[in-house]
Amino acid sequence: MVDIEQVKQWAVRRWTLGALHGVSHWERVERNGLLLATPECDVTIIRLFAYLHDSCRENDGYDLEHGPRAAQMMESLRDNLLKDLSDEQFLMLQQACRLHTSTHSTGNPTIDACFDADRLDLGRVNIKPDPQKMATDRGKEMAGV
Ligand SMILES: [Fe+2]
Ligand SMILES: [Fe+2]
Repeated sequence: MVDIEQVKQWAVRRWTLGALHGVSHWERVERNGLLLATPECDVTIIRLFAYLHDSCRENDGYDLEHGPRAAQMMESLRDNLLKDLSDEQFLMLQQACRLHTSTHSTGNPTIDACFDADRLDLGRVNIKPDPQKMATDRGKEMAGV
């Protein structure tokens, strides 16, 4: 089984930017993701997304390449921290991270829950998440309250 705590510690150790996209955001994304998860979702992927999706940001601004960079970086974790993922899980995690900077929804329930978990934390930058921009039904509900 993948040790999520170890992945989290790895991401925290290499993080050089501030709190805006740092560990407190990742923890909220994990919590949101667990609330959004439906029975068809892979919760391990949702939790790993939370701790890895922003890990390759180079600044706190308009850095749209940090999603694809995270997907690329993950190759270096495949034989160690992420070795217990199946190939299918690994590809799903890569896809979720690669696309989170560019894509509204994919139709994959796990990946869409990842996207919404991240969006639901927009309140930290004073943006109220827009229910219309959510990828999942639960995300729409949670953004609406
Ligand atoms: Fe991001
Ligand atoms: Fe994020």
